[in-house]
This record gives sequence, structure tokens and C-alpha cells, in this order.
Amino acid sequence: METKGTVLRHESQNDKIILFSRDIHEKMLAKKELQESQQKYKYQVDYLNTLINTMNEFCITYDKKTRITFVNKRLLEALGYTEEEMLGKSVLHFVSKDYIEPALNQINNRLYFGEVSSHENAIVCKDGSVLLVRLKGSPIIKNDEIVGGLVLAEDITQERRIEKEMARLVQLNTVGEIAASIGHEIRNPMTTVQGFLQIMSQNEKLSDFRDHFELMLEELNRANSIITEFLALAKDKVVDLQCWNLNKIIAAIAPLLKADAMKEDKNICFELGDIPDLLLDEKEIRQLLLNLVRNGLEAMQEGGTVTVRTCLEEEKVMLVVVDEGEGIPSEILDKIGTPFLSTKEKGTGLGLAVCHSIVTRHNGVINVSTSSQGSKFVICFTPSF
Ligand SMILES: Nc1ncnc2c1ncn2[C@@H]1O[C@H](COP(=O)(O)OP(=O)(O)O)[C@@H](O)[C@H]1O
Ligand SMILES: [Mg+2]
Repeated sequence: METKGTVLRHESQNDKIILFSRDIHEKMLAKKELQESQQKYKYQVDYLNTLINTMNEFCITYDKKTRITFVNKRLLEALGYTEEEMLGKSVLHFVSKDYIEPALNQINNRLYFGEVSSHENAIVCKDGSVLLVRLKGSPIIKNDEIVGGLVLAEDITQERRIEKEMARLVQLNTVGEIAASIGHEIRNPMTTVQGFLQIMSQNEKLSDFRDHFELMLEELNRANSIITEFLALAKDKVVDLQCWNLNKIIAAIAPLLKADAMKEDKNICFELGDIPDLLLDEKEIRQLLLNLVRNGLEAMQEGGTVTVRTCLEEEKVMLVVVDEGEGIPSEILDKIGTPFLSTKEKGTGLGLAVCHSIVTRHNGVINVSTSSQGSKFVICFTPSF
């Protein structure tokens, strides 16, 4: 019951109270039902929000003018934008340049013909980096009318990177196999030619040709070192793993590396941390260091510094080679480690391919990062004891 009261005043009489009561049972029931259904609705909305924001896929919706109307947390995190920065902007604003035209076609087909489609696309993060995504798009239909589009997408950047890496490894193995079979065969006749050239270069009667002989010998040496690098690519090359401290190997070839740097008026500096011993093939690790440092030196102007660093991170031994060069061109970065890929006039394009196979034989991993300020090669070894 609901009761309301009022006091009636009269000069000659005592005050009187009038009470009105009515049955509000029905009203209360209706109110309770309303509250319950509101709560249920809120719970459902919260639940949907949680689902959309915690799922691993990116989710985005837009209206008929391609303006973003919703974007889930996962996408905001991946792109580095805030919700305010994305809402209201055209979805095309976040699509990578090369993909805008096909994306526009797909959006139009979705918005005007109600097409459901799935394809790949590239989206641009706030920091300029690009994410490859596989997406599914469908129209949003309200009262039989298309009012916008819904896109669900997953990040396939990593997947693509692994596919590329696999393709590179297959190529590396093929090259390695060819190398192993013909490398030695070519080297034998070359050694004979080299020997006779050396004898002839000492001959007084041929002294007028000394410069030519020197050049021929130099070129033969170059060819020889290409074959050496080539042989190092062999997949089943036997590694002589011994217990070594990486710092000891670095210290042993440091004078050689310093001399190499000094010749070109560049610097090399060593920051060797406290690291445990590893199972290493000393010759191969020397080769790895030589190749990485040489590339670093070649990438820099005079006065630049290459830093060789070792440290222990989460129980892994890190070998880091950093240079102050101009960075690795993006068309090379994608294919880095592919044999014969070089931007240098006299480059063989085998240095990094060899580094990759050496690191693989040591069960390690190479990571490369680069910018216009320089490049950084991080090799991560897992101690096996
Ligand atoms: N530290 C570096 N800085 C810039 N570019 C690099 C660096 N290391 C490698 N590169 C690029 O990768 C290519 C391949 O390197 P590599 O396999 O050692 O062959 P090469 O040195 O004979 O060209 C180089 O030609 C260069 O374009
Ligand atoms: Mg090189």
C-alpha cells in the first residue's frame, strides 16, 4: 500500500489528518520487473563488450560514409591510437597506401551490394609500422537496410614473417647443397692456377707484368674467399662444438677487428658482460663476428663506431653488434639473409646468409632492427648446460 496524508486546519476546531491509501502492488511489481530487465540488459551489454574487447581479433564497424563507429580494444592496442583518435575518421585513413584501392572496392561492394568478403589487407599503426591482416567483412543491416560495415580481422604479420623465413631456409639449403658439391671441385684447379701465377710473378723476365700478376692473384683470392663463404652455407656442415666463452673468442679476434676498423678511420668498441660458457664452434663464431662487424663498418661513414656487446638476458646469452650506419634499405630487410643479395658493388651477398646458417647450427636466433641512425644485430644463444 502507498499512503499519503495531509493536515486539515480549522480556526474553531482541532486539526484533522486525512489519509489516502491505495494498492500499489501491481505498480511495484511492474517497477521490479523493469529494474530486473534493465539489469539483465546491462549485463548482456557488458558481457558483449567484454567479449568484443577481449577477443584476439580486431573488430571495427563503420557507417555508410565509411566513418568509424566502433573499434575494439585489441585493435586500439595494436595500432597505438586512442578511441577518440579513430572514431569518426574514415576506415581508409588507416589502410596502407597500396591497399586503399582494393579496400575501397570491397567497402563499396559491402555497403551497396551487401557483399560478404574475406581478403588480406595492410593497416598502418600510429608509429608508421604496418600490420598485415586477414579480414572478414560483412554489411550491418538494420530494418532491411544496409547502415554500415563490420570487419573482423586477425594479425598475420608474424605468420608471413615465418613463411618468408621458411622460404629463405629452403633456398639456403639448396644453395648449401650446390656449394658442397661443386665448391671443392672449383677450388682444386684454382689452386693450381694460383700456384703457377705465383711462380710466374717471381720470374724476372716477366717483371713488366708484375702488376697484372698481382691483380690476378688478388682476384683469385677473392674468388677463393667467396667459395669459403659459400661452403659455410652447407646445411649438413659438421660443427665442432666445444665449451667456449663467447667473450674469449671475441677478445682473440679483437685486434684483427680493430685493425680492420682503423684502416678506414672508424672505431670499434667492446662491452663484454659476464656470461656463462656455451657450446660453440670457435671458427664459425669468428666468421660470424667478422661478417657482422665488416657489414657494420661498411655501412658507416668515417668516424663511426661499431659496438660489440655481450650480456646475459633471461638466461640467454646475447651477442649484439650495433653500428652507426645509414640502416638497411627496407627492400633488403625483408629478404635479409638470402644468398647473393647485396647492395655493394663488390659484395657477394653471402655474409649474412653465412651468419644465419652459423647461428642456426648453434640453435640460436638472429634479430635485426634498423633505422636511419644505424642497425643492430642481436644473436641469442641458449646455454645447454
Ligand atoms: N650493418 C648493416 N647496415 C646496413 N646494411 C647492411 C648491414 N648489414 C647488411 N646490410 C645489407 O645487407 C646486404 C647483404 O649483406 P651481406 O650478406 O653481408 O653481403 P655483402 O656484405 O657482401 O653485400 C648488404 O649488401 C647491405 O645492403
Ligand atoms: Mg657482408
